Amino acid sequence: MDQAHPKNQKNLISSQDMSATDIKRLFQIARIFSPEVKQGKTLPLLRGKTLVNLFFESSTRTRTSFELAIRKLEGSALNFVSIGSSLQKGETLIDTAKNLEAMGPHGLIVRHSSAGSPLILANSLKIPIINAGDGFHEHPTQGLLDAYTIQEKLGTLEKKRIVILGDIAHSRVARSNIHILKKLGASIAVCGPPSLLPPHPEALGVDFSFRPESLMPDADVVIALRVQLERQNRMQIPSLSEYSRFWGLSRERARLLKKEALLLHPGPVNRGIEIDSEVMEDPRSVILDQVFNGIVIRMAVLAELCNPFELAQWLEKRGQNV
Ligand code: CP
Repeated sequence: MDQAHPKNQKNLISSQDMSATDIKRLFQIARIFSPEVKQGKTLPLLRGKTLVNLFFESSTRTRTSFELAIRKLEGSALNFVSIGSSLQKGETLIDTAKNLEAMGPHGLIVRHSSAGSPLILANSLKIPIINAGDGFHEHPTQGLLDAYTIQEKLGTLEKKRIVILGDIAHSRVARSNIHILKKLGASIAVCGPPSLLPPHPEALGVDFSFRPESLMPDADVVIALRVQLERQNRMQIPSLSEYSRFWGLSRERARLLKKEALLLHPGPVNRGIEIDSEVMEDPRSVILDQVFNGIVIRMAVLAELCNPFELAQWLEKRGQNV
């Protein structure tokens, strides 16, 4: 985590700031929380604390799971709604966030279409800032929950072959996935139409191909991504049906995969475009496991950033040497 911040508060802005040790610690904490959550228990690790969900882009999974994570840690979640706020009268993002901070919350969870906005807030505010997705820069908690899901199912990420398929160029999820999965020892290939791959994919330390068929037989995991039309100035593929024909995770392509391979998608899914409905229901699909793991990973992040001393005491009391 970003421990060297000028004001010494901890933030989660980019997965590049996290070491393999930081990531593994969060996974251990999430693994301890997971059975408690499955039994319907709450944990008092954010009791008396309020966190603000500051979302300027639409979200189903991330906003809801942050809110649930806060509630399961017995904290209060405040959902800021930008429509109807004084942003519409011209108040800036920083002023909005500073005014919210003045009301005394213990952290801000931020999603914004501008890459870098959570970092700007981290440099301007004293409370922890958690990036819930900024433009096409990063989505670190999605990267964490994806890697946690793979580790949970396969036991390790070391030397696993992971194919990230689709709109890599516009995907903050792909960037966070690549940083985190590489730190945990996975080997990564990206695949998609030339117009939707970054100009020099090898600079990210990954292999690449324009043909999914060439990567499927060796893959331990395929992460299919949504085509992010909202981040493209103009459509960068001839048509969605052509995309689906050449790059979609179809039934035929899924047949090329190993029996024990995993299929992931961060959501929201455009059924029939980046992944066929039938493949979503394949026993190898762990898409809904990703969604549940989003809660426990976000609980681990929130407890670690917003109440680290009580978390350490809680773990010690339970004899958990994390
Ligand atoms: N994966 C993800 O960020 O989904 P939402 O946009 O629904 O939060």
